[in-house]
Amino acid sequence: MSIKILNEENRIILRTKNTMYVMEILYGKYPVHLYYGRNQKNPELTFENHYCAFSPYYDEHGTKFSPDTAMMEYPFFGMGDFRASALRLYDSVGGTNITDFVFRKAKKFRGRPDLGGLPAAEGASETLELIMDDPVTRAELHLYYTLFPASDVISRSFMIKNKGKGDLELEKAMSLALDIPKGDYDLISFQSTYPHERAMCREPIYQGNRRIVSRRGSSSHHANPFFMIVDRKATETRGDAFGFNFVYSGSYLDEIEKDQNGMIRAMVGLGEESFHYLLKPGESFTSPEAVMSYSSKGIGELSRNFHRFTKNHILKESPYPLRPVVLNSWEAFYFKINEEIMVDFAKGAAECGMDMVVMDDGWFGSRRNDRAGLGDWTPCPELFPNGLGAFIKRVQDTGVKFGIWIEPEMINPDSDLYRAHPDWVISCEGRDRMLSRHQMILDMANPDVVQYLKDSFDKCFEGIRIDYFKWDMNRNMSHAVSPYLPPERKRESAFRYMLGVYELYRWLLERFPGAMIENCSGGGGRFDLGMMSVSTQIWTSDNTVPEDRIFIQYGTSFGYPASVMSCHVANRRSEATDPRRMDFGYAVALGGPLGYEFNILKVSDEVKEKMKQQIRDYRRYEKLILNGDLYRLKSPYEDGCYAYYYAKPDNTELLVYYLQVKGDPKQRTHKLKIANAIRGVTYRDTRSGLEVSGDDLRRGLMIQADKDDAYARIFHFTLYGSSLKY
Ligand code: GLA
Repeated sequence: MSIKILNEENRIILRTKNTMYVMEILYGKYPVHLYYGRNQKNPELTFENHYCAFSPYYDEHGTKFSPDTAMMEYPFFGMGDFRASALRLYDSVGGTNITDFVFRKAKKFRGRPDLGGLPAAEGASETLELIMDDPVTRAELHLYYTLFPASDVISRSFMIKNKGKGDLELEKAMSLALDIPKGDYDLISFQSTYPHERAMCREPIYQGNRRIVSRRGSSSHHANPFFMIVDRKATETRGDAFGFNFVYSGSYLDEIEKDQNGMIRAMVGLGEESFHYLLKPGESFTSPEAVMSYSSKGIGELSRNFHRFTKNHILKESPYPLRPVVLNSWEAFYFKINEEIMVDFAKGAAECGMDMVVMDDGWFGSRRNDRAGLGDWTPCPELFPNGLGAFIKRVQDTGVKFGIWIEPEMINPDSDLYRAHPDWVISCEGRDRMLSRHQMILDMANPDVVQYLKDSFDKCFEGIRIDYFKWDMNRNMSHAVSPYLPPERKRESAFRYMLGVYELYRWLLERFPGAMIENCSGGGGRFDLGMMSVSTQIWTSDNTVPEDRIFIQYGTSFGYPASVMSCHVANRRSEATDPRRMDFGYAVALGGPLGYEFNILKVSDEVKEKMKQQIRDYRRYEKLILNGDLYRLKSPYEDGCYAYYYAKPDNTELLVYYLQVKGDPKQRTHKLKIANAIRGVTYRDTRSGLEVSGDDLRRGLMIQADKDDAYARIFHFTLYGSSLKY
């Protein structure tokens, strides 16, 4: 069994395939952390307290235990641990926000706890539950540790219940806290801006508090909740690496704090600035799930743990195991679409061997530009004189599937919906309403709003086969207040908003079981595990310039698998007139499920021919891209190129990429060591015919940089002339 509760020793041991997590219930009262790392048979672990002057202690145990200098399982505010706390609870009776939870019992059970309307990873093996009581507030706390052994992931969440007589207010809620022993560690995080999502950043962790945070009501373009803490010397293939993420799509807080002794506390949760929750007597609150993983074999292995976890436990099973190659109308026409244009577009897509057209923004209500119409989910009769159903049938009759863009959470002030329900908007009474992209946000904490959206989409798509939804979300939340909630619950608005969003996603999935959802938020502004639990893939970025995409896809690959990373070839820098650039755009877009953003009505026959070839080419390895294991070889930040490969688990098939960031006048040679290649066999590149032994691939595939920009090499190695049998 993976969870052992050793009552006599006051120890609890959790094991996944390669990792082990050990805690002790010190003096039978205080859960302290002993170890998280490589699996060991008989570890000798003893609790150590690195006592420092000025740290408080209980007289009973003296300086042998101070919550301020111990590795704590889950730290509380105000009880003698001066480091950042995981939980702060205001007690309206006593007037304080101090808690001193004491361990009561530990249980284990199969599967996982129910998180109510929150997204939750599926297929857990078992869960450890620690139950704790706070004698003064009479709150009861349940800490959950849920195991996903094959991915080496442990997830954490909590439930808190008010068993007292007065109101309690949850002021800070972190789902996960992990204390890491003293060491020299780096923080790797993914922060940037629109549209340069998930730019990788590695920095030393110094003493003090470092926060990665979103207060935007969305996980955001600007800071992804995923982060790693790695040994200063850790590389792709070597060193200790811890990774953390949040299964949630709203505002969050990642807190990393190095203390006076050099220990590091890592926490993930809803935080304190954008979150607050009232617990009346008898009420309870369940936190979102946060996840952690550890690898002793470096950053690459840690990434693969998260990829496996996301693919096996988070992502919805897609109605299309192999993803449709889509042609999207946005960059081709922006808002200038109508039935005839879209039908011709579909014919072009079919001619080039694509699977689907996606009709992007501009098809509904008065939405002829981004100033009007959001909220009015009725097809525009001028654009589709015979109705949406008749139009979509014409598209599907060309032989392609049909996808459609929606942005359910948003509303333009210039819309019938706003004129009818100005009170359905996230807004703060007495304060001016603010716009972003000319739009406001619907109050998804209000059940009437969610019901309105269900009814609208139900009616709009009644009797129509929709094969794909692109669900967009194009602004962040200011004045995060739900007019619907009573004053004492207003600070729950952003959290309850997310519950409404997840409910609508789940409804859409159930109502249109044949449709897959591609999630989007101005590109990759909500690229998180919460969204992945309700969609199949995510539009990685609005930025389709291949040189920029190299960095975006590189950063994204640290936490998320290729199968969610929707990638399109677009015509941003003359790709439609310069074959070299189009080849380059394609090589970069081969990083994930492929699509196009071309105005196919205007491109030359040569470009169409190229698309056909590219799609034929892509089909040969799409399975490997979607299901293979990723190995990064070169970093675009350090090496002038992004080189990586996808490998079939048995290594009989390898797809190797060399993507040059820009021209290299020195034409340096790069050595790509394909460590997964099998010794003693010959591989053949199905693209060029090149034959090379597995041993030579392991020694290194030599690639000479090109002096010009827009240069890429792709190799698809399969076994050839081998004596091995498969
Ligand atoms: C966002 C998306 C784009 C497109 C537009 C439409 O910016 O990221 O792909 O759908 O909205 O308005």
